[in-house]
Amino acid sequence: MRNLFAFVALFVLVITLSGCGAAAQPSPTPEPTDAPTLEPTTAPAVGDAERGHQIFTKGLNESPPCTSCHMAADVNFGFSLGPNLVGIAQRAATRVEGLDAAAYIHQSILDPHSYVVAGYRDIMYPDYSKYFDEQDLTDLMAFLMTL
Ligand code: HEC
Repeated sequence: MRNLFAFVALFVLVITLSGCGAAAQPSPTPEPTDAPTLEPTTAPAVGDAERGHQIFTKGLNESPPCTSCHMAADVNFGFSLGPNLVGIAQRAATRVEGLDAAAYIHQSILDPHSYVVAGYRDIMYPDYSKYFDEQDLTDLMAFLMTL
């Protein structure tokens, strides 16, 4: 009986609301308790710098780690094939006109041929797009932005 009353009340409320669009105020309609409201939550892409660090140093899905060619420390010791990535967050925004730091880094990883840093050869590993998904890139980016 209670359920029926609730249903009727809800019905009347819906009719009333749809009948006059001007009263578009948030109504304190109680959630129907028997209707599951568990919608899949689509989490926004948030970068996990800790995981990005892992990918940077260990690689992912059999792809070579970034550290096989890049240093990311403030000390430039020894020899490496690619530029030291310390300060990349600031530098990245100035590399290619029209690309902000995130867009440039994204492109540098997925399509390294498209821009070759002066003084370096076009030898960066070209196939990361086959191994990384967007979340991997977002995590990697979060890490690179801390350097
Ligand atoms: C086989 C060696 C190699 C590997 C592995 C490699 N890189 Fe590179 N990377 C280079 C070289 C060489 C350059 C400079 C030439 C160019 O711009 O393509 C470069 C350039 C870059 C740049 C642009 C730097 C700047 O100062 O503008 C970024 C960013 C970058 N790499 C990120 C990465 C990340 C992240 C990874 C791992 C997912 C990675 N690289 C793996 C060799 C490599």
